[in-house]
Amino acid sequence: MEATLTATTASHLITSHTLPSTFPPRKFSLTFLGNQRKPISTLKQTSSSSSSSSSSHSPHLRVSANSQAAPASSSTETSKVASLPYEMKAWVYGEYGGVDVLKFDSSVSVPQVKEDQVLIKVVAAALNPVDAKRRQGKFKATDSPLPTVPGYDVAGVVVKVGSQVKDLKEGDEVYGDINEKALEGPKQFGSLAEFTAVEEKLLALKPKNLDFVQAAGLPLAIETAYEGLERTGFSAGKSILVLNGSGGVGSLVIQLAKHVFGASKVAATSSTGKLELLKSLGADLAIDYTKENFEDLPEKFDVVYDAIGQCDRAVKAIKDGGSVVALTGAVTPPGFRFVVTSNGDILKKINPYLENGKIKPVIDPKGQFPFSQVPEAFSYIETNRATGKVVIYPIP
Ligand SMILES: NC(=O)c1ccc[n+]([C@@H]2O[C@H](COP(=O)([O-])OP(=O)(O)OC[C@H]3O[C@@H](n4cnc5c(N)ncnc54)[C@H](OP(=O)(O)O)[C@@H]3O)[C@@H](O)[C@H]2O)c1
Repeated sequence: MEATLTATTASHLITSHTLPSTFPPRKFSLTFLGNQRKPISTLKQTSSSSSSSSSSHSPHLRVSANSQAAPASSSTETSKVASLPYEMKAWVYGEYGGVDVLKFDSSVSVPQVKEDQVLIKVVAAALNPVDAKRRQGKFKATDSPLPTVPGYDVAGVVVKVGSQVKDLKEGDEVYGDINEKALEGPKQFGSLAEFTAVEEKLLALKPKNLDFVQAAGLPLAIETAYEGLERTGFSAGKSILVLNGSGGVGSLVIQLAKHVFGASKVAATSSTGKLELLKSLGADLAIDYTKENFEDLPEKFDVVYDAIGQCDRAVKAIKDGGSVVALTGAVTPPGFRFVVTSNGDILKKINPYLENGKIKPVIDPKGQFPFSQVPEAFSYIETNRATGKVVIYPIP
């Protein structure tokens, strides 16, 4: 029997997830000056005794903020940040491997802020397949040194700004992908932590109509979707086939192609149960990959956006002179592959479409995990069955 989503179910996928009644916090305020929370201004005097006591917690995973040395703060900054802690809760791995290498650590140093960076109190973070591949060691040649606090996507509140930060200020609600180059030296201090330090240029103000969970799921996926479309020269009146239309990236490629770039026709692939979702996002043609081979269809496309790793088949589905952009797997000419560059300007460009509801975040109905269940969230994304995004919320 063909199992399809009802329209109600499809809209549930886009908008509905349970949030605590206190959510969203309109303005984040620092209230944690408890026993374990020492003022950051005392870091130099107390860090050695602190790390020797906390090292009994997990000695091989000690992560020091000093490994990302920052310029000295101005006296103004120091007085502003007097209430910030210097240790935080974070997920950390000290070796590459399966989900079991992930360890919870309640005394990771809060990262120091470089002059072009802001410190964000993380409210929600999202997982991407790159988090899993990085943890498995697939990019170890170009990775930053272990131990690693994983996490690319963040939505949160600015709690400190570096001396060269121009536009952002404390209290701003922001979102972004914290790693400018996904595979080249991604930060040692990621977003699966209470705090993360990020260059201002990688961030944008959070769209006003979205909560932190919705915003956290967007940056890496929507920047990839947008950059890939631009790289194919996609423009109004062109047709596109999206392979993996129900994933984090593909669900946004469909919407951007249709509602921002002005596609003449959008086709997309998924398994049977997700076809209605594809249509609700703007697909004119939803192809069930369990029943049909897209390359055997008589219709050909100006662009195929391959978000699954089927470039050899994708090149058979383009018109003469068409383009195939591939995110993963082997590339068959004329297909090409790129790796996303994080860029806050893309988020700023897309924000109006998010705020007017033309582009909607897609969060997997089972895809919201509390901070304590980060390993379960990794296991879920690694099934390769998630619909839209997997988000970590709440974060302590
Ligand atoms: N190069 C870059 O810069 C870049 C950037 C972002 C992502 N990526 C890569 O791009 C890929 C997609 O990322 P993502 O975040 O969108 O992944 P994702 O959200 O984890 O994708 C999960 C989706 O894949 C679908 N799927 C599985 N097999 C399929 C098939 N044979 N045909 C069509 N859909 C299929 C599943 O739908 P069903 O349940 O219906 O099968 C599921 O909804 C990953 O490999 C990721 O690493 C690369």
